[in-house]
Amino acid sequence: MIFRFKPVAMERIRQQVDTIVRFLAPNMEFVNCHMVDYLTEQHWKRFVPEPIQEVLRTGDDYREAKELFWSQFEPGFESDGRYPSVKAFIDNTRQYRLGGSKVQDTALTLDEFKEALSDHRKDTRLKMTELMNVKKCHEVEVAAAAVASLCTAMVSGTGSAARLEDILVIDAGDGKGYLSSRIALEHGIKVLGVDCNEENTSNAEKRLERLKNKIPKAVRKSNLEEDEHFTNLVRENNLNTLYRTATQLIDFNTNLIELAAEYFPTGNHSTFCLCGLHTCGNLGPNCLRLFHENPTIEGICNVGCCYHLMQEQFVVDEFYNPTKAADNPGYGFPMSSYLQGRSFALGRNARNLAAESIERACANRENPSDKLGYRALLQVVFLERGEKKSHQVGRLKCGGFVEYVRKSVRRLGLTEGVTIADECLLELQARFAVELEQLKVFYLLRQQFAPVIETLILLDRLLYLWECGYERSFLVKLFEPVVSPRCYALIAQK
Ligand SMILES: C[S@@+](CC[C@H](N)C(=O)[O-])C[C@H]1O[C@@H](n2cnc3c(N)ncnc32)[C@H](O)[C@@H]1O
Repeated sequence: MIFRFKPVAMERIRQQVDTIVRFLAPNMEFVNCHMVDYLTEQHWKRFVPEPIQEVLRTGDDYREAKELFWSQFEPGFESDGRYPSVKAFIDNTRQYRLGGSKVQDTALTLDEFKEALSDHRKDTRLKMTELMNVKKCHEVEVAAAAVASLCTAMVSGTGSAARLEDILVIDAGDGKGYLSSRIALEHGIKVLGVDCNEENTSNAEKRLERLKNKIPKAVRKSNLEEDEHFTNLVRENNLNTLYRTATQLIDFNTNLIELAAEYFPTGNHSTFCLCGLHTCGNLGPNCLRLFHENPTIEGICNVGCCYHLMQEQFVVDEFYNPTKAADNPGYGFPMSSYLQGRSFALGRNARNLAAESIERACANRENPSDKLGYRALLQVVFLERGEKKSHQVGRLKCGGFVEYVRKSVRRLGLTEGVTIADECLLELQARFAVELEQLKVFYLLRQQFAPVIETLILLDRLLYLWECGYERSFLVKLFEPVVSPRCYALIAQK
């Protein structure tokens, strides 16, 4: 046993899944409603709890309620006396997210994870922020150390790797190679970055060349000149021997041993650690399946993202675009046989919601976009003119409601049927001014479910690993959510 802490029991994960499912059940219509229909289908009356409807009535109420939402992570929130029913709603939903009172102790904090790894722990020492934005820099420093720690634990465990050199890390969905190059550069572990997109691979290689020139200065800046690994790296300029890239679609037929032999011909690697930073849609779940189905992959560290691109087994997505999922077929949710047995479905809007970030929205006091209101108002126009309900406008740039309508109507080819004077549109907007402010509060109320849905997706993945028999499977909060919203990693060792 490498990790020095007691893993959460499978029964407990199931109980937490049950608790969330029970909480979400009566709210699924709310979570999956379309903002487009906000006015025409009276969402406020239909979905918002009555005690909230009773206290929020005016434009000023709505504006102040938004302040309450945005302050929910601030110290003064506990004692905030404004709109108790709104506050109670916020408090209640927050219980059902990782770290909340109903889902406690399942995800490890980064400190707990490091503490648990004891002697296998690797920290970041290199000060090297070049060629990355602040978000990527944060992710890469933390995730590279986590992967290096996992590899070290794999060497000391019961697996087949006797030395760190025996392990090859495969970065699934390598992108520009931010994480993979850092694992190689800082921790001296060999990494094969695999991405199905040729342009990404080529960019990763170009970035590597630029990165190499920055190493000597970074080593000096970090006072690591005495460190043997970094001294050799600077002297021999040999980062290419540690990090290589492959353009290849990872699927269930990918033979990792052959791939490794092709790119690291002298390495003779037989043990793999599969990592992935922001493996979008189905790629995350498919990486977990690869981990299970391939005995040579003894460790995994996976951070998912873009839940909206994931395909669900028990729901038919009306806007599903098969070309988007071509790279990563199969179902991404549910993964556990526990939720599969219940034919549990989230729905497209729920998955869209799960990809949002409350922490960031609150930190930036993000006002929901005016365009949500414009689209809901346009639906009023469409209905009055007998247009069909399901027009999809998509994203567009506009400076106000009138321009929004003009551009939408043009895009949908409706210029003949939907003629309406600018003054009438402005009058409509003025008539609904209070409801448009209310719509923003509705959006924030609904957004409270975002981390709850993400929690269910993550617990389902954790449960899958447990069901496959991997008791050393953990959820770890690797990143600061305001900096990097998809902040949880699934880390497992066979
Ligand atoms: C969201 S990006 C993340 C990139 C990188 N890991 C990062 O954090 O910057 C996901 C990447 O996965 C790649 N990808 C998606 N499905 C893949 C598959 N089945 N095999 C290999 N690469 C895949 C995409 O081309 C894309 O570069």
